[in-house]
Amino acid sequence: MVEEHQTTIQVHNLTKKFGDFTAVNNISFQVHRGEIFGFLGPNGSGKTTTIRMLLGLLKPSLGEAQVLNVNASKQPHLIRPKVGYMSQQFTLYNDLTVLQNLNFYGRAYGLDNKQLQTRINDVLEMAGLVGREHTRTKELSGGWRQRLALGASILHQPELVFLDEPTAGVDPVSRRAFWDLLYQLIKDGVTIFVTTHYMDEAEHCHRLAFIQYGQLIAIGTPQSIKSDTFEGDLFELNCDQPALALNLLEDIKKNPNSEIKDIGLYGALIHILFNKNYQTKQIKSIQKQLLNSGLKQVDIQSIQPTLEDVFITSMRSAQTLNHGENYE
Ligand SMILES: Nc1ncnc2c1ncn2[C@@H]1O[C@H](COP(=O)(O)OP(=O)(O)O)[C@@H](O)[C@H]1O
Ligand SMILES: [Mg+2]
Repeated sequence: MVEEHQTTIQVHNLTKKFGDFTAVNNISFQVHRGEIFGFLGPNGSGKTTTIRMLLGLLKPSLGEAQVLNVNASKQPHLIRPKVGYMSQQFTLYNDLTVLQNLNFYGRAYGLDNKQLQTRINDVLEMAGLVGREHTRTKELSGGWRQRLALGASILHQPELVFLDEPTAGVDPVSRRAFWDLLYQLIKDGVTIFVTTHYMDEAEHCHRLAFIQYGQLIAIGTPQSIKSDTFEGDLFELNCDQPALALNLLEDIKKNPNSEIKDIGLYGALIHILFNKNYQTKQIKSIQKQLLNSGLKQVDIQSIQPTLEDVFITSMRSAQTLNHGENYE
C-alpha cells in the first residue's frame, strides 16, 4: 500500500550560484508521491536550474536534493533510469515518423524488443496517436508533438516525470488534452513535477510553488495559497471608462487612508485589493469619487481571488522587498 504523503522529492536549502549570480536561492520543499506539483515562476526565475539539480545534471552550490530517496548530486545514475524528463528543448526528430521516434527513444532507454513493442503500443494509445504511427513528426500539429514528446519521455515507465514548460506555445484545446494525459499518468501512481506559466494550468495542480528571482515565495494547494498568501479583500470594478478609472484609482491609492493595497487591470475590469481593515464606506466613497469625476457607470463587487491575482500580488510584494521597485 502506498502511504499517503509519501515523499518523492525532498529539497533542503538548495542553492545554485553562477559566479556572483544566484539563480536558485536557498529553497526548500517536498513533493508527495502521486501528486502533480506545479513549479511556477516568470522567465529566468530558476525553474530549469532547479530541475537540472533535481536530476543531478547540475551540482548545487549549497543544500541538497533527495529524489526517490537518492541524493541527486551524489548518485545521479541511480535517479535517471527511474525518472522521465521532458526538457524545454526536448528533441523529436522531425524527419522521422512517430513510430521511428518512439523506437529511437525506447532504445536509448535500453528497452528490449519485447518491452519496446508493448510500451510503444501503450504510449500510442495513451497519447491518442494510434493511426498516426507513420506520420512524419514535422507534419504533426504542436499539440500532437507535445503528446508524442511526453510519450517518448515515459517509455521506460518512470515513477517520476519532470516536465519543463511542456505546453508552452500550444493552443488551449491541446493544452487541455495534455493535462488529461497527466491525470491518466497519476492514476498509475506516477508523480509529476511540472513548470508552467499558465495560470489555468496552475489551478489543476495538486500543490504549487511560486518562485521568483530564485526564491520560493509561496507554496501549498491552489486553495491554501489563495487563502493564506492573499492578505486582504478583493473587489472587481466594472465601469464605462476603465482607463480613466485606473488613473483615478492610482491617485486615490496615494492617500494613506485609502486602504487600497493594489490595483490591476484585467481586460476591461479592474481588480482592487484592500487591506483587511478597509471599511464598506470606503468602497462607497470610491464609487462616488469616480462618478463625480466623469464616469457614468461604476459597479464594485467583492470577488474571490484567482491564482493569477495571488501570483501577481505576491510577485509584486516580493519584488518590492528585494528591489524596491514595482513589478511590471
Ligand atoms: N549555466 C548558466 N550560467 C550562467 N547563468 C545561468 C546558467 N543557467 C541559467 N542561468 C541563469 O539563471 C537564471 C535562471 O535560469 P533558469 O533556471 O533557466 O530560469 P527559468 O527556467 O525559470 O526560466 C537566469 O537568469 C539564467 O540566465
Ligand atoms: Mg526554464
